[in-house]
Amino acid sequence: MTENSDRDDASFFSRGWVVASPMLERLGLARARRRLVAGLRGTVVEVGADSGVTFEHYPPEVTRVVAVEPDPHLRAYARRRAARTAGEAGAGTSIEVVDAVAEALPLADGEADAVVFGLVLCTVPDVPAALAEARRVLRRGTQERPGAQARRGPQERPDAEDRPGGEIRLLEHVRAPGRLGRFADRIAPVWGHVGGGCRPNQDTEALLAEAGFDVAALQTRPFPPVVPLMPMLTGSSQPVGTYAL
Ligand SMILES: C[S@@+](CC[C@H](N)C(=O)[O-])C[C@H]1O[C@@H](n2cnc3c(N)ncnc32)[C@H](O)[C@@H]1O
Repeated sequence: MTENSDRDDASFFSRGWVVASPMLERLGLARARRRLVAGLRGTVVEVGADSGVTFEHYPPEVTRVVAVEPDPHLRAYARRRAARTAGEAGAGTSIEVVDAVAEALPLADGEADAVVFGLVLCTVPDVPAALAEARRVLRRGTQERPGAQARRGPQERPDAEDRPGGEIRLLEHVRAPGRLGRFADRIAPVWGHVGGGCRPNQDTEALLAEAGFDVAALQTRPFPPVVPLMPMLTGSSQPVGTYAL
C-alpha cells in the first residue's frame, strides 16, 4: 500500500468517525468523557483529539490544552470546535490544536500535568513509544526515594511537602476476555483496515504495565454496548518510580 492510499484510508475513516461518534456520545460516551477529564488542572495534552469532542468537558482549572491530532480533516474540525469552546461563557482554557503524533509530543520534559488518552491507544502505531513520550512530558513528583525517611532519621522532616507527579487519564477499549475477545481476534484484520488501524483486541493494560505505569487503580467497565468497543479501560495512572528528590 502506498503512503497516499494510507492517507486516503485514514481520511475515509475520519469522515466516518465524525458521523458515528455523536451516536456513541448518546450511548454514554459523553458522560465517560466528563469523568475522563474531571479534576484535572494546569497543562493537559490530549492525544488524538479527533474533532475536539472532549474540549467542552475540561474543567476551568485546566488552563491549557495541547490537542495533538495528525489527521488534517479531523484537525480542521477540532480547530473550529476549539474556537467555539473558547467563545463560550466562562471558558478560560486555551486550546491549541497541533499537527503531531503521540510518539513525538511537542512538549518539553515535565511540562504537562496530565496526558489524556481517549479511544486512541488502539490506533497509535507504536504504543510503547507513545507511553514513553507521555512519561517524558509529565511533571515529576516530589515524593522521596524509598528509604529516604530511614536515612534521615525519625525526627527530621523533609524540606518540601510531597507533591504528586503528573498522571495519564484513560478511556480505552481493550480486548474482552472469553468469546468476545476471540471474536475481536478474528475480526481484527478487517476491523483495522476499515477502522483507520484500530486494534480491537489490544491488551492495553499489559502495555501500560510494561511501560512502567501503575495500573492498580484502573478499572475495566462493560461499556459501551457496541462490540468490539467493549469493555473500556478507564481511570488514572502514574509512572512508577519517578522521583524528583
Ligand atoms: C477513534 S479516534 C478517537 C479519538 C478521540 N480522542 C475520541 O475520544 O473520540 C482515534 C484518533 O487517534 C488519532 N491518531 C491516530 N494515530 C495517532 C498517533 N500516532 N498519534 C496521535 N493521534 C493519532 C486519529 O487521527 C483519531 O483522531
